[in-house]
Amino acid sequence: MSASQAMTDQVRVRAPGKVNLALRVGAVREDGYHPLATVFQALSIFDELGAHPAAPGRYGIRIAGDQAHLVPADDSNLAVRAARLLADRHGGEARYGVDLQIRKTIPVTGGMAGGSANAAAALVACAALWGIDINPDEMRELGAELGADVPFCLLGSTALGHGRGDDLVPVLSRGGYHWVLALPDVELSTPAVFRRFDEMNPDADPTPPPVPPGLLEGLASGDVRRVAENLANDLEPAALSLRPHLAELLDAGRDAGALAGIVSGSGPTCAFLTANEDAAVRLSGVLSGLGLCRQVRRACGPVPGARQVA
Ligand code: C5P
Repeated sequence: MSASQAMTDQVRVRAPGKVNLALRVGAVREDGYHPLATVFQALSIFDELGAHPAAPGRYGIRIAGDQAHLVPADDSNLAVRAARLLADRHGGEARYGVDLQIRKTIPVTGGMAGGSANAAAALVACAALWGIDINPDEMRELGAELGADVPFCLLGSTALGHGRGDDLVPVLSRGGYHWVLALPDVELSTPAVFRRFDEMNPDADPTPPPVPPGLLEGLASGDVRRVAENLANDLEPAALSLRPHLAELLDAGRDAGALAGIVSGSGPTCAFLTANEDAAVRLSGVLSGLGLCRQVRRACGPVPGARQVA
């Protein structure tokens, strides 16, 4: 730590959830991961993380907010693992300490990378708190050790992902996109959805299919209808097979005026793309009234990745 990088009192970081505009999946690899071709968009649903100084060797965590009881508040939490990993690579875990506080709004086990967002936020916050000088590429490499979606939660905006989804290239995207998110009253485990994908696709190619070219063209020109026509999720049949009533929710959103509806990532959150903000307000009203899900939220994308706010 240099003299100009003195430890600060407390750091707050906001990190976004994501939706996969396209998620193309290849056959499972020997390491248990699936090769992906995916387009991520970061959405304005944020978890906030506070990092407070603590005695060297102490790594504490408290969780508050929506579904907090579903998140482990111990060393297995991905944010704690992120803090320990950063410390380990920059002088050792015994040299630093931190008390983390997370306020959840991203759905837990919802297919929106909530845990990965918390890990991304912890890396950004602890680097600032401890005065560690780390460049964005190095931080994304650390993030990839924690989980496949963590590098995107750091990068944000819109990006094409290959490999496990952690090999990222920014994508040209014009305009803003208005989403309605339906949060069902069930959870879905990401590994379970990938396993069901394997059962349903025994002949999957080792190379994932490419993302639809029309999606990238639609994003580049800011054409929301073109984007909507080209949304694609290879995990959706697997998620629907594990949670059949999601099909009813998707149909309801489409019938109520969404341009398109998809399962977000491995689900169970269903994401509906709408023509504009007014359409999103109307759709969220209709979906809320149907009582098919636990909560309905509106969100815009793209937004930046994990950023310090105080
Ligand atoms: O990397 P992360 O821990 O977020 O991944 C959670 C699980 O999702 C993995 O253990 C794996 O079962 C599945 N996964 C996968 N292929 C990917 C990304 C995730 O099979 N590209």
